[in-house]
Amino acid sequence: DLPNKVQIKEVGPRDGLQNERKFISTEAKVEWINQLSETGMNYIEITSFVHPKWIPALCDAVDVAAQIKRKKGVTYAALVPNSKGLEKALAANLDEISVFMSASETHNLKNINKSINNTFPVLEEVVKGALSAGKKVRGYVSTVFGCPYEGVVPLHSVKKVTNKLFEMGVYEVSLGDTIGVANPQQMETVLTELEKTFSVSSLALHLHDTRGMALANTLVGLTKGITVFDSAVGGLGGCPYAKGASGNIATEDLLHMLQEMKIDTGIDFDRLMNAAKYIEKIIDKPLPSRQLKL
Ligand code: HMG
Ligand code: MG
Repeated sequence: DLPNKVQIKEVGPRDGLQNERKFISTEAKVEWINQLSETGMNYIEITSFVHPKWIPALCDAVDVAAQIKRKKGVTYAALVPNSKGLEKALAANLDEISVFMSASETHNLKNINKSINNTFPVLEEVVKGALSAGKKVRGYVSTVFGCPYEGVVPLHSVKKVTNKLFEMGVYEVSLGDTIGVANPQQMETVLTELEKTFSVSSLALHLHDTRGMALANTLVGLTKGITVFDSAVGGLGGCPYAKGASGNIATEDLLHMLQEMKIDTGIDFDRLMNAAKYIEKIIDKPLPSRQLKL
């Protein structure tokens, strides 16, 4: 049985742009986010409050958050790595924040400069601070299905990190296929294992489409009862600290499949396509999305 309703969480302005070589002006980011707000989607991760030396593409996070038009009913979220980032996110009045870490040591170290165990207290402080400021907190676990440095990631590591995040107080954990290596059979196995410990309704999938398997993996997620999926308009995206990582599943490709399957998302396809064409023009190169090529 497939769900008849799914929430798409748009991560294009964050994951989608963080790895782009060409710097996208604040003005264009703001215009794009405003267009996305008018598509009917109800969740947009607009930027991240990480160190600008690590992610120069999003160094204008404060300005982006200040300049976008906030549409009622849309949750505006941002990625936050530590208390310094939280301070800025709170000052910028985001609705929600996301914390993130990896299930594999090497990627965690390359991405946020700490061991897994040393990351827990940092995120704990962030989650505590955000919750007491009245903000909801989402958690990401990266490299769930494979690590660019370590290869296979043991399920017990995924469980340990996921469990810690829930203990801290995140309402949802998004399972990241950071480098797009998951296959449908593995997806089935991992979700079957995780649903023994965690409620499926508090899990989301964050699939990168590096090897073209993201839609197939989405279908497995749907059959397992997952109803929250992250995606990026245009198929933009990738983590600069994960070798070989490329774009997220394209929102318009995901939306197309869901619509054809009569699964409701609340998103207007034509408006979404206009937002995809807009950012493709700004970035000035063909984006990976299939729908953009039709
Ligand atoms: P660090 O160098 O270890 O930080 O970086 P530190 O705590 O030692 O501080 C060093 C300096 O940075 C200090 O300044 C801090 O104030 C400053 P100084 O005193 O030397 O002048 N600093 C900051 N400045 C601005 N904003 C901050 C901040 N924090 C410290 N938030 C840190 C550690 C986590 C900051 C760094 O490694 C970092 O920013 N990493 C972010 C990497 C990133 O954004 N990666 C991509 C996102 S994750 C992803 O894409 C995966 C995901 O999509 C899911 C999936 O696909 O699997 C989510
Ligand atoms: Mg990602």
